[in-house]
Amino acid sequence: MRIDARFLTKIRKEFPAVNKDPSGRKRAFLDNGAGTLVTRRAADREYEARLDWSANVGNVFPESEGAGETILEGRTAVADLLNAEGPNAIISGESATSLMFNLSYALGRDFEGSENVVTTGYEHYTNISPWVELGSNGEINELRFAEFDTDSGKLDPVKIQELVDRRTRVITVTGASNVLGTRTDLKEIGKIARDADAYFIVDAVHHAPHELADVHGIGCDFFVFSGYKLFSRHGSFMYAKPEHIRELMPYKVLSSPERGPEKWECGTRDQAMFAAITGAIDYLAWVGSPSAKRPPRPGSARRSRLKTAFKAIGRYEQELMEMALNGKGKTPGLNDIPGLTLYGPRDIDKKTGRDPTFSFKLRGYSDRDLSALLWKRHRLAVGAEDYYSRVPAIFKKKTMVRATFVHYNTKGDVVTLLDALDRLSRRKR
Ligand SMILES: Cc1ncc(COP(=O)(O)O)c(C=O)c1O
Repeated sequence: MRIDARFLTKIRKEFPAVNKDPSGRKRAFLDNGAGTLVTRRAADREYEARLDWSANVGNVFPESEGAGETILEGRTAVADLLNAEGPNAIISGESATSLMFNLSYALGRDFEGSENVVTTGYEHYTNISPWVELGSNGEINELRFAEFDTDSGKLDPVKIQELVDRRTRVITVTGASNVLGTRTDLKEIGKIARDADAYFIVDAVHHAPHELADVHGIGCDFFVFSGYKLFSRHGSFMYAKPEHIRELMPYKVLSSPERGPEKWECGTRDQAMFAAITGAIDYLAWVGSPSAKRPPRPGSARRSRLKTAFKAIGRYEQELMEMALNGKGKTPGLNDIPGLTLYGPRDIDKKTGRDPTFSFKLRGYSDRDLSALLWKRHRLAVGAEDYYSRVPAIFKKKTMVRATFVHYNTKGDVVTLLDALDRLSRRKR
């Protein structure tokens, strides 16, 4: 299975907004790190659930039963995506940030105040502020940052190991930096966490569209991702080991369920969010078997198609990344455009790979001006901000320009970006 030009055309048909913005203007969408475009299957499933299954769960009439089934289907689809034990290991929430706060409060209840939490130096604040909060409440003693190498943009897991001691209760890392594109060696860090008997938490919000998750392979206790970064709508999901779901005590209201994922969920669920994620996951399974007439059965059949899909996605994104870094023909890559500073790995790590996320600055332009020029002159949608990440400050910058590719982007999108940057750089040479 390969994503070649013909298959890419079919893939792009699955995303109604891939070519044009709502005003009908052609553009290339490279702001995927801030939220991907939505697959038609997710939007259709959401629309149906919104109208047909609008009632609350737990009653005997069809709208209510349908709502319950839709939620269960969604949890099951997410369990297949993550290789989790089953639907009861999947908790939903408003956002990854709210899930992380809830999780940190639940863990903090059992801490005495002398414990520490270890994380990486390239986290999104979603995976920093909840632990800072525990520190302010006296529930932990310290949040420790394993700093990445600012030249290579990479993090040696040894840096995590060096910070771990017998008071370490949590190791919590992002799957990939949402600014640098650096991938974290999750398997290695999982081992460190197990040896230290610490909880291992993964923030996969940025990484989810690029590599198939495997919570068992990684050996994590918790794993969080958001639908809007995975071709669906807003709303997020967290895997938790079944014993943690059972034994930990999240903040909850009286009367809400005492067990199962519902114990962890604040308020009433939106069934349409579960319908949408089922649609997005079925889209991904379709990428793994585009000639199949129907979505696969839940369980191993769906997991197997997802594996095929992500292999193809990984290979294709690798081609996009090589082109982005090293250029094509006379078009120089991000590594070679004069005046351009790329923050993050200049290569694709042999062991962990890389996410196709590229943050940079161009000499002579403010980030805002550069993103505006890329949009107005070249119809390229990119970001220009701090991305709620610790990374820009480490490089003593307030913001950076960021382009994130996903598998519906074309090689033409890469070349357009490189040509545009090269042309803009020439004006300031
Ligand atoms: C790595 C990472 N973690 C967390 C978040 C925040 O996710 P949410 O908006 O679902 O809270 C983001 C969003 O950019 C992210 O990139």
